Amino acid sequence: MNKEIKKMKKGKYMKRLFSGIQPSGTIHIGNYFGAISNWIKLLDKYDCIFCIVDYHAITIPYDKELMQKRIFDAAVDNISAGLDPEKCKIFVQSHVSEHTELAWILSCFTRMGELSRMTQYKQKSEQHKAHANCGLFTYPILMTADIAIYKGEVVPVGEDQIQHVELAREIIRNFNTAFDDILPEPSEILSPTPRIMGLDADNKMSKSLNNHISLTETDEDLWKKLAPAKTDTNRQRLKDPGDPAKCNLFSYHKLVSSDAELKQVIEGCTTASMGCFDCKKILCKNFSELMGPIRDKKEKLMKEKDYVLNVLNESASKCRKIAKETISEIKGAMGL
Ligand code: TYM
Repeated sequence: MNKEIKKMKKGKYMKRLFSGIQPSGTIHIGNYFGAISNWIKLLDKYDCIFCIVDYHAITIPYDKELMQKRIFDAAVDNISAGLDPEKCKIFVQSHVSEHTELAWILSCFTRMGELSRMTQYKQKSEQHKAHANCGLFTYPILMTADIAIYKGEVVPVGEDQIQHVELAREIIRNFNTAFDDILPEPSEILSPTPRIMGLDADNKMSKSLNNHISLTETDEDLWKKLAPAKTDTNRQRLKDPGDPAKCNLFSYHKLVSSDAELKQVIEGCTTASMGCFDCKKILCKNFSELMGPIRDKKEKLMKEKDYVLNVLNESASKCRKIAKETISEIKGAMGL
């Protein structure tokens, strides 16, 4: 299928974009450079819907007392980072019940073998062995429903979610083959930096691995994290030259430092004329410059609870309307 289903936005027709983020407590620079910075760039190009996926967050153990705070913080962090509520919808997944209704329907078009191949399922079921539940297994079906309930066509994500979007395409194709061509097959959009490594330099940055730098870290905490962070292991002493290509922190420099600073760092590292301490100071300054305005906006929004809740409620009510139309079209096509 893939006939273009376009939506009106400010007098122009636009494709619909959908993406989601878990309310995991803090947005980190992996989320930001892997996905959110791209979401912001695409706000004017697509009809954008962003979802705080609380139903996905309950697939692993969580603290019930903290859930509402985490959802609120996720909304505040995203808006502070640049998701302008005037230009997109931003809402909470469990506020639109058609997501789970469609997930059930789509589960009847998903092969278990495909689900069991998902890398994230393998990792998370290993990480939470005592809690490896069906929700964790069928997680990509709910993701597919999130996208399909809005007939989403483009899905900007980090590299770790590509496999899920590929499976979403397949599930949707199975559905379309069985019934009418109702649902568009979504395509992923990757940011120029789709995989940000954690401070441990061995794993993808992730809150659950505690190897992350939050997007609203204070300067003091930022330095506490950067100062002991791993660099090129060849740089044992100040006079040992290093290789920026082998240094995890250089990959961070490429996210925030200017061309002149990159040049300075490369030269300083390879000739051992600059130590890791000074290199980290430059990095810390540049992260702080990125985070400063985001922190300020967050501080302001934390005091405007009603405004933030209103954004979530209004978006949910607009999304509900679209979701109801889609589910009724799907049920009609299926003879339900
Ligand atoms: P989540 O909450 O794990 O991450 C949100 C977004 O951030 C990206 N990301 C990264 N990118 C680069 N490097 C990293 N270290 C890194 N860590 C996270 C993720 O790829 C993601 O784009 N299942 C999804 C949320 C979801 C969703 C959806 C996404 C639910 N339904 C439908 C798209 C469409 C998740 O847990 O993302």
